Amino acid sequence: MKIETITTHPYSDQNPGTSGLRKKVKVFQQPGYLENFVQSIFDSLEGFAGKTLVLGGDGRYFNRAAIQIIIKIAAANGFGELIIGQGGLLSTPAASNIIRKYQAFGGLILSASHNPGGPDEDFGIKYNVGNGGPAPEKDTLAFYQRSQSINNYKTIIIDDIDLDNIGEQHIGDLKINIIDPVSDYAELMQSIFDFPLLRQSISAGYITLLFDAMHAITGPYAKRILVDMLGAPAESVINAQPLEDFGGHHPDPNLAHAHELAEIMFSDHAPTFGAASDGDGDRNMITGSQIFVTPSDSLAIMAANAHLIPAYAQGLSGVARSMPTSQAVDRVAASYGIPCYETPTGWKFFGNLLDAGKITLCGEESFGTGSDHVREKDGLWAVLFWLNLIARRRQPVADIVHGHWQKFGRDIYCRHDYEAVETPIANALVEHLREQLPKLPGQEFGEYTVKFADEFCYEDSVDGSISRNQGIRVGFTNGSRIVFRLSGTGTVGATLRIYIERFEPDASRQDQDAQVALAELIGLAEQFCEVKKRTGRDAPNVIT
Ligand code: G1P
Ligand code: ZN
Repeated sequence: MKIETITTHPYSDQNPGTSGLRKKVKVFQQPGYLENFVQSIFDSLEGFAGKTLVLGGDGRYFNRAAIQIIIKIAAANGFGELIIGQGGLLSTPAASNIIRKYQAFGGLILSASHNPGGPDEDFGIKYNVGNGGPAPEKDTLAFYQRSQSINNYKTIIIDDIDLDNIGEQHIGDLKINIIDPVSDYAELMQSIFDFPLLRQSISAGYITLLFDAMHAITGPYAKRILVDMLGAPAESVINAQPLEDFGGHHPDPNLAHAHELAEIMFSDHAPTFGAASDGDGDRNMITGSQIFVTPSDSLAIMAANAHLIPAYAQGLSGVARSMPTSQAVDRVAASYGIPCYETPTGWKFFGNLLDAGKITLCGEESFGTGSDHVREKDGLWAVLFWLNLIARRRQPVADIVHGHWQKFGRDIYCRHDYEAVETPIANALVEHLREQLPKLPGQEFGEYTVKFADEFCYEDSVDGSISRNQGIRVGFTNGSRIVFRLSGTGTVGATLRIYIERFEPDASRQDQDAQVALAELIGLAEQFCEVKKRTGRDAPNVIT
């Protein structure tokens, strides 16, 4: 194996965001761009000689080409084995599982998650550490710093590797193991949930279901698990064929983008359960006949019912949610007497808590839920959790949700996104918000009195690390909140996210439309941040 050292020059924009480095495909296709970033990762890591690296992606455009490039750089840098999903495919949670199960040194996951794919769309790369979770901030910072001074990368000159046939290949001392991307994951799911009960509930027609794979990675996983193993009819999985451009859609599981599913779930021939997942399989949207379950509520309901699932029958050690996620799960934790942690946005902040055994379940408002079974959020796991819950409670989704609200109260919640705002406008808006923070506490706005106004700063209770500037929060004395933050995953301009919630304990007033129930707070959010005034827009691009 002859190692070549190729001269390169740094790119100034290789700072990973909330979830790895995400850019347009055309940016990644610049000479040395992907190579630099991968070499910067390897230069920042120590002790991987002879060890195993897991490699796979969501199958979007540039996935295969990127895998071939990475194989050669990994070989030249001295890894001993590469485990690669057949066809270069691995869902994000499946990759996390494989890193853990085979005790790999780490893994590279190629995905831009729910962002669109294709030659003019997005691509991404993320490094996960040996626990199977996203690299912590100290590592991603090191990758970026290295990328700013890199002047060469190592590679080998070989023909492209066959990614399509399962089995082992060797290049010099390097073993390349092409594996079935689904089987280890399916086995893990079988060890968590009550598959015999699910099979029975589906064959008896008690549960009818529809899963929208959105032409993304979960198609093969859903077909194997839901259809082959649990006996759901083949037509229960729609858009099951992964496509490089996701059929021209955003593979983003929400009511706006998963509209085919949404239409059926709100029609008079809706099945009992409907769900969707995203580009790389880590997100989930849960619906029942005539009802959409917000991700924040879903997390709270899962926590409240976890004892019904075989793997969590002993109870939960604790739960965690990202700061902008609604406080619904906090109420469950308080009632069960278990700890509830509030972390910054991004799955990487849950890793330490999971590793330390402080939490069993965690989630984010952005359609992400997961547990200690892997170190990523997990779309199909959430789907199976809900199916298991419905099978055990023998209640429709709507009854489960309404019963939960009656018991714990409802945290009425929504998020407004203003996408592709010009960066200087977004920065000025954040500055304007910051200036108001010291003056807000104590001020009254109609029925709302500000209790606190600050910028969220997180201290990790396991390693003591501090993460500052994680979103601006305005909290009111009645428990309502408005949170503002700029997205760390976008690829064009800046995206402002506004998260709004209000607690409604009165069961007779819980069945309201969120936009109506939150209208006053939505007005206050505009008063504070002036996004409409400053951008000239009259509405958010996406409401979830
Ligand atoms: C978004 C979500 C965040 C999630 C991340 C990766 O990040 O808001 O919760 O962890 O995608 O899926 P953002 O664009 O807000 O930085
Ligand atoms: Zn994703």
